[in-house]
Amino acid sequence: MLLKNLRPADEYDRFASQALEPWDVLFVTRIRQIARDLPPGALVDIGTATVVVPVRLAADHVLKGWHFIGLDLDETMLEGGRPRIEALGLSDTIELKVGDALDLPFADNSLTMAVSRATLHHLPDKLKSLTEMYRVLQPGGVGLVHDMRRDVAPDLLEKFTQMRASVGYPPTHVEEKVTLEEARALVIEAGLDHCTVVTSPSSGMGALGFEILIKKPLLA
Ligand SMILES: C[S@@+](CC[C@H](N)C(=O)[O-])C[C@H]1O[C@@H](n2cnc3c(N)ncnc32)[C@H](O)[C@@H]1O
Repeated sequence: MLLKNLRPADEYDRFASQALEPWDVLFVTRIRQIARDLPPGALVDIGTATVVVPVRLAADHVLKGWHFIGLDLDETMLEGGRPRIEALGLSDTIELKVGDALDLPFADNSLTMAVSRATLHHLPDKLKSLTEMYRVLQPGGVGLVHDMRRDVAPDLLEKFTQMRASVGYPPTHVEEKVTLEEARALVIEAGLDHCTVVTSPSSGMGALGFEILIKKPLLA
């Protein structure tokens, strides 16, 4: 299955593994900062594509003892990442699961972390994706969403377009993204503003996008 505005798995994998490292560093750094304060548990990467991020996480000593689940609606994406997992001997640490961000195949309160990058903009019901993330988190668990802003600064967008072009990947579809204010409105509409902050750095790679950080209260 090929979702709207997505390239086939082999092309996406080439792009993700060759051009996205600066963004991976930012995302992985945030995950490890958050995970340091949590007991090792299960972490799902929602819309994981060819599983590049879970592979990076599994190699990080701070995240030793965690179990990673790469979840995607598109099985061909997951299968594209499987050889890398097997080659690195990570089959016991990283599980692959076909599933929908809007109907997560996990019990309530069952995961310690749920993360998702560059996927929110693909989802037809963004509000539901946030309430689903919240539902599956254990009390005390953390959800982290990074995505690109539609209201991104033109110079940053140009830089991103060049990064993509350097590996023969087409420009992003900026019109399908949400703005920082729309992301904040979504969180309020989802009823999660009591435990969620939405931020966007003013400079660096992170300024391309926003972060939604959900901390499920211990007494939820
Ligand atoms: C742009 S890619 C992002 C991949 C990866 N997270 C990254 O940052 O490189 C978006 C991914 O979301 C997946 N996706 C789209 N809709 C989805 C849904 N409803 N549930 C789960 N995954 C979905 C796509 O198949 C694709 O692999």
